[in-house]
Amino acid sequence: MNIAVLCSGSGTNLQAIIDSVNSGYIPAKIALVVSDKKNALALERAKKAGVRTLILDKKDFKTREDFDREVIKNLKEQNVGLVVLAGFMRLMSPHFIKEYRNKIINIHPALLPSFKGTNGIKDALEYGVKVTGPTVHFVDEKLDNGPIILQKALEVRDDDTEESLLERVHGEEHKIYPEAIRLFVEGKLKIEGRRVKIIRKE
Ligand code: GRF
Repeated sequence: MNIAVLCSGSGTNLQAIIDSVNSGYIPAKIALVVSDKKNALALERAKKAGVRTLILDKKDFKTREDFDREVIKNLKEQNVGLVVLAGFMRLMSPHFIKEYRNKIINIHPALLPSFKGTNGIKDALEYGVKVTGPTVHFVDEKLDNGPIILQKALEVRDDDTEESLLERVHGEEHKIYPEAIRLFVEGKLKIEGRRVKIIRKE
């Protein structure tokens, strides 16, 4: 299966995915990395790994849907079967979701449905929760809302800062995202309403 990874930032999750593909843990090819930020470190990581990249600037498109149509065109050219959002700081249009329904996944740095939005780690820390951690989920029309694939709960320590918590959450992201992608690629995820069943046995 060909997969595409969409990133806007540092791309540490992209790196974990690249490493997992290279080691054979994820039996798929990263056919394309798309970024809306031309200076994203993620693009460097992709280039270093010999992965094709595409940079799209939102200023070049009239509407979100026009932007997404261009992304779709490129995904189709690469015959992409799974779209992986890894720190992609744009909401996908309903058109995009429709086109890749149940084939788009995202990672969020909090235990959904808590702390949706762009500050999942800071918000959890400030709220005072005792556990938090990353969530991998399917993407639907609403923000951080689709069926949950994997979550990992971590204890929040009394002396945690945003930085220390982020480091631990990211550490877990780099394990559960490759795991979720592997499960998807191997056809082991079954969506039933809001629930995602994992077929663990052959
Ligand atoms: C991660 O914290 C992820 O949970 C969120 O965006 C961040 C991406 O980090 N969706 P990176 O670019 O993979 O380092």
